[in-house]
Amino acid sequence: MDWPQSTCYLNGEWLPLAEARISVLDRGFIFGDGIYEVVPVYYRKPFRFEHHLTRFERSTTEIGLANPLDRAGWRALVEGLIARCGDEHQFIYWQVTRGVAKRDFSFPADTAPTVFAMTTPFTRPSATQREQGLRAVTRADERWLRCDIKSVSLLGAVLARQFASENGADEVVQFRDGWLTEGSSSNMWVVRGGTVIAPPRDRLILEGIRYGFVGELCARIGVPFEVRRLRQDEVESGDELMLTSATREILPIVTLDGRPVGGGRPGPVYVRLRAAYDDAIEALRS
Ligand code: PDD
Repeated sequence: MDWPQSTCYLNGEWLPLAEARISVLDRGFIFGDGIYEVVPVYYRKPFRFEHHLTRFERSTTEIGLANPLDRAGWRALVEGLIARCGDEHQFIYWQVTRGVAKRDFSFPADTAPTVFAMTTPFTRPSATQREQGLRAVTRADERWLRCDIKSVSLLGAVLARQFASENGADEVVQFRDGWLTEGSSSNMWVVRGGTVIAPPRDRLILEGIRYGFVGELCARIGVPFEVRRLRQDEVESGDELMLTSATREILPIVTLDGRPVGGGRPGPVYVRLRAAYDDAIEALRS
């Protein structure tokens, strides 16, 4: 593998990514027993950082994992990563696992968590992706019932994204019992009659940091925003379909299972939301 020449953080130490090592008995490796975050950085400033910390705290609480750092500690860690990379735009990845212990499903007593964090230069979505949009395929949601927890156990997401790749698509649009949930690693948005509609924030989706952000952008530009369950046929017959995530920002989906969504081109609501999104990022430049 061609290792990125970057410095990462592991359990209190800064070291080259290629030299970072964890134990084979780490519960993250053995059980996927941990929580992660992905934070985009624009102009060397973490975007909506407090929201990411709130989600991280919630996820750790939900799985009974002690958060090893307070907010000031996380901020210092993230600023350390940003400075060591130096790029204008980056995305930070961190994960905390329940640490190293003899293999036993129950929580170990008195085990220190493993704390790992890295940053990667962030190439924002390309002009082609923004102007021509993405292709998606539908799929039954086969993940577990706590998708609201940002867990490092991501096999369900891996299999879903692989399904998309094998079907010539960029993402899946998942349905549980015929109701829209989300993508493999993104939230989904449907536009019908000029209203942006999102599925509710329940245990079946991860509440993206961009979920609240899109709600705010809709209010800012005067686009009606509704939260309700969406049936598969309503998604398939929507005027527009979009996804959001830290790394893909906001992108239009122009085909679903090979059929055009709406006019088969990025729609007018997307174009306005995209512009508002970009404005919010540019405001960080100062
Ligand atoms: N994934 N839903 C799922 C299942 C996700 O994995 C993600 C993000 C989102 C969007 O959340 P946010 O707006 O906070 O990025 C929704 C990240 C990017 C990842 O796993 O790499």
